[in-house]
Amino acid sequence: MTTILLLHGPNLSQLGTRDPLQYGMDTLDDVVTAARDEAVDAGAQLVAEQYESEGELVARLHAARTDGTGAVVINAGALTHYSHALRDALELLPVPCVEVHLSNVHAREDFRQHSVIAAACDGSIAGFGTAGYPLAVRAAMALLPQTSA
Ligand code: DQA
Repeated sequence: MTTILLLHGPNLSQLGTRDPLQYGMDTLDDVVTAARDEAVDAGAQLVAEQYESEGELVARLHAARTDGTGAVVINAGALTHYSHALRDALELLPVPCVEVHLSNVHAREDFRQHSVIAAACDGSIAGFGTAGYPLAVRAAMALLPQTSA
């Protein structure tokens, strides 16, 4: 069975009470449930983890190179905009990767309008709130080799 690894970066643990105008009222658990439901419908399983620090995320991506992860969906939070270390770790991944954001980062402050990790991902989804997560899982599944789904 394909395993989708859903990774969240710093401050996303605070969803539900964090800037609801940008991120909505759903908690991290709600977001993970939406993604998991889509993965299960597609015959896959979802492993979801959240890390507040860059180093932990990088280490988790290293582990994902060899632990049987079939695809990665990542919301790296603010690290999206400046973490070259995260980008380098994503470039090492031998499996598909989809970047997801709850808010429409392209319509926000200048610093949010550039993603340094985008070029290391297969594509990105932003601005659809929680609904973006099932879309990201579907996109990741569509990138899998036909035999491994
Ligand atoms: C975010 C957008 C980032 O700019 C921000 O730092 C986050 C959340 C989003 O999901 O919209 O932490 O990744």
